[in-house]
Amino acid sequence: PKAPIRVVITGAAGQIAYSLLYPVAKGDVFGHDQPIVLVLLDIEVMLGVLKGVVMELVDCALPLLREIIPTADPNEAFEGADVAILVGAMPRKEGMERKDLLKANVKIFKVQGEALDKHAKKSVKVVVVGNPANTNAFICKKYAPSIAPENFTCLTRLDQSRAQSQVASRVHISAQDVHNIIIWGNHSSTQFPDVSHGCVLLNGQKVKIMDAVKDEAWLKGAFISTVQKRGAEVIAARKLSSALSAAKAICDHLHDWWFGTPEGRWVSMGVPSDGSYGVEKGLIFSFPVVIKPNKTYSIVTGLELDAFAKEKICATQKELIEERDQALEACA
Ligand code: NAI
Repeated sequence: PKAPIRVVITGAAGQIAYSLLYPVAKGDVFGHDQPIVLVLLDIEVMLGVLKGVVMELVDCALPLLREIIPTADPNEAFEGADVAILVGAMPRKEGMERKDLLKANVKIFKVQGEALDKHAKKSVKVVVVGNPANTNAFICKKYAPSIAPENFTCLTRLDQSRAQSQVASRVHISAQDVHNIIIWGNHSSTQFPDVSHGCVLLNGQKVKIMDAVKDEAWLKGAFISTVQKRGAEVIAARKLSSALSAAKAICDHLHDWWFGTPEGRWVSMGVPSDGSYGVEKGLIFSFPVVIKPNKTYSIVTGLELDAFAKEKICATQKELIEERDQALEACA
């Protein structure tokens, strides 16, 4: 039997975590033969709520779940961590500017980066979900210099899934038959959902998305803005941000990182830029990546970018540079 892995989930008393805990603890992410110790980090005032969440997990009577450790101490939480899912962040309050939110949140990720640096395994796989996800991941990485930078990623898989589903419904096929859509850049409204290298399976045949959809105006217009604004649309309808779909995307991101991507396919993740496509080195930028079964990934290189794509990538990079500079200032 395998030794248990330690999976830390922050923001564990919040709404994304509530949809995330079950599939993780059940084995859907790391395999149905992989025992798990779940470490649940939230802030002091939420420990009462967290206690209820722990009771529910216990009541699921899950065979792989060996231990549950609720805590409000990041140093305790990250001890020996194999995986860190950083969901916890401060929500935007009434009257708060995006800049103020950024300042408050990056400091959380500075503290957690330092705690990861001191206590986690050097092989720890980190996925940042809390917003601004790319910039939080950048700060987390910066304050954990003893851990390889490529171990820090942020979630843009939800954007990818949203894009896949938009195309699938347009072509009247299943979302799993839409391959290699790319999310470039920031997990924000400047992201660039790019179908130009993607394809769909139509009756077992690969067809370029462009040729299957046959509507360039839609692909360059409404499709992009729908994906960019989907998060805000869910908030407007639900009065709460995406949680079920975010949890599903976190599971997909980590499952693929753990087991690898299928031959010929790639997925989008926010990862440290290596300078590919002219993106400043070190920025956490969403790229298409392929992942080997040994849990190492590489950015897909050599994709042809037209003027439209270059302009979009440039705009989202500009926003990320601004966010990074504000974050560095807030942490200084
Ligand atoms: P929520 O407000 O329901 O839960 C957040 C939890 O984090 C709360 O329990 C809070 O107490 C906790 N928390 C705050 N500061 C913390 C700290 N320093 N350490 C540990 N826990 C802390 O929010 P929800 O809906 O679960 O969303 C969480 C984050 O995920 C938000 O920032 C949201 O914007 C982001 N998000 C990101 C997505 C993505 O695709 N990257 C998609 C959807 C949401």
